[in-house]
Amino acid sequence: MYSSPDSPAAHAGLPDHCDFTVFGGTGDLALRKLIPALYHRDREGQLPADYRIVGVSRSDVDTAGYRALVRDALATHVPADELEPVAVDRLLGRLHHLCLDAHAADGWHELHGLLKDRPHADETVRVYYLAVAPTLFGATCERLDDLGLVDERSRVVMEKPIGHDLASARAVNDAVGRVFEESQIFRIDHYLGKESVQNLLVTRFANAFLEPLWNSRWVDHVQITVAETVGVGTRGGYYDAAGALRDMVQNHLLQLLCLVAMEPPTYIGRETVRDEKLKVLQALKPMGPADVDRDTVRGAYDGYGDEVGRPDTATETYVALRAEVQNWRWAGVPFYLRTGKRMDQRLSEIVVVFKEPPHPMFPHSEGTTAPNRLHILVQPEEGMRLHLTAKEPGPGGIRLRPVSLDLSYATAFDQRSPDAYERLLMDVVRGNPTLFMRRDEVEAAWTWVEPVLARWAQRSAETGERPVGYSAGSAGPEPAADLLARDGRGWQASDG
Ligand code: BG6
Repeated sequence: MYSSPDSPAAHAGLPDHCDFTVFGGTGDLALRKLIPALYHRDREGQLPADYRIVGVSRSDVDTAGYRALVRDALATHVPADELEPVAVDRLLGRLHHLCLDAHAADGWHELHGLLKDRPHADETVRVYYLAVAPTLFGATCERLDDLGLVDERSRVVMEKPIGHDLASARAVNDAVGRVFEESQIFRIDHYLGKESVQNLLVTRFANAFLEPLWNSRWVDHVQITVAETVGVGTRGGYYDAAGALRDMVQNHLLQLLCLVAMEPPTYIGRETVRDEKLKVLQALKPMGPADVDRDTVRGAYDGYGDEVGRPDTATETYVALRAEVQNWRWAGVPFYLRTGKRMDQRLSEIVVVFKEPPHPMFPHSEGTTAPNRLHILVQPEEGMRLHLTAKEPGPGGIRLRPVSLDLSYATAFDQRSPDAYERLLMDVVRGNPTLFMRRDEVEAAWTWVEPVLARWAQRSAETGERPVGYSAGSAGPEPAADLLARDGRGWQASDG
C-alpha cells in the first residue's frame, strides 16, 4: 500500500478503462485540486491509458469552454516548471463538460449517453466524485442508479462534510448506501493522503525503537495542531454553518489522533487500519457538559462575523480541547488538539512529549533540560524533529543543552512530494479504500463531537455566550494556553 506512486507497484490494480465524473466540475475543489492532481498523475504515466474526465455542473459551459477553464486553472495551480504543454493538451483532450442540475431532468440523458456510448463501456470503471453539497449526495446517487450507470465496478467519492451531526451523517450514509456497497464508497479525508501523515504509520510500525516508548508509561502527553493563516475567504456560507469543530476536528484532527494512538494492525490492509482507528474513536472519553466546560475552548478571530455578514454569529474559527483515549496504552495521557484560522503561522504538526527521565543523574549540572519531544511535521515543512538533551562541549563540569535531530523530507528525499489528492485519487482508481474513512469511523467521530456542539449551543442560547475573540494573525485565544497551563504544560513550538 505504501509504494511510491511512481513505483511499478503503483500500476498494480489499475483498470484499462476509467471515466471520472466530477459533480461540481467547475467548482473550486475540482479546479484547484482534483484536475491538477489528475494532470500530475497523467504526466507521470500513471493513469489508465483509456481514461476521461467528465465535469458536471450547473454552469452553462460547453466542452470547449470547460477546456479553456481548466487550462487557466492548471496555469494557476500547477507550478510553471511542472507544466508540460504536451501533457496539458493530452489532459484537455480527455475532458468533457455537461450542464446538469441534480434535482432537474435536464442533462442526465446526455450523461448517460456519454458514459455508455464509448468503447469498452461494460469494462469501464466509473468513478463518481461528489464535490457538491452533501444534501445532493443521495439524489445524485439515485439518479445514477436509475439510469443504469452503477455496476459492481463503479465507485463513489464523497467530500466532507458528511452531515453536520450524527443523524444527518447517518442519513447521507444511508442514502448513498442504498445505491453503492460500502466497499464502493470512498469518503475522503485529504489529511490521510498527505505524505507526512502516511509516514507517521511507517515511522511507528516500520521501526522498532519507538514502539516500547509509545504508551502512558513514557509519553506525558500529545499535542496536535493544525493552524492556518487564511480566514474563511469565499466559503463563509458553508463555514458559518459548520465552524472549526465540524470543519477540522471531527475529521482531520481526529484522524491524526487515531494514527498516533492506534494499535499496530496485523498487516496494512483494506480494513485492518480502519478497524484499529475505529477502536481509538470508540475509546475517546465521552464529553459530558462539565467536561466540555472544562476541557474545550472556542474562539473566533476579530472581524469574522462581519466577514461572513453575520455580526452576531456564534460560530467558532478556533478550537482547543483536551481529549483522553481510555484504553490500556493511553490511560491518563492527555491529547491536546487545536486548530484555527487567521493564526500567526501555517503549521500542522503532532508533538509527542515524553516524560522526564526517571532519575535525575546530573543534579548539579548547569544549563537547561527539557523533556524529549518528537515533532511530526505535517506542513508546511514535512519531516520529523526529535528534541534531546546533550552535553555542551567544553571542560569544567557538565552543561546540559537541548538539541534537535532533524529529518527534513525535502533534504532526505530529493523528489517532488505529491499532493494528497494525487495519492487518494489513484487509490480510488485502484479500488484501495485503506486511506478513506469507513462509515463507522465517521459516525463514531460524530458521536464524540456531538455533545461538545450541543453544550456550546446550549450555553450560547442560555447566556448569549460567544466564542472568545482573538486577533487575526495571533496565536489564538488566551484560554487555550490556560487549558495546558492548568496541567503544568504549555503548547510546544517545533523550533522551541
Ligand atoms: C478543509 C477545510 O477540509 O481543510 C478547510 O474545509 C481547511 O477549512 C482545509 O482550510 C485545510 O487543508 P490543508 O491541506 O490546507 O491543511
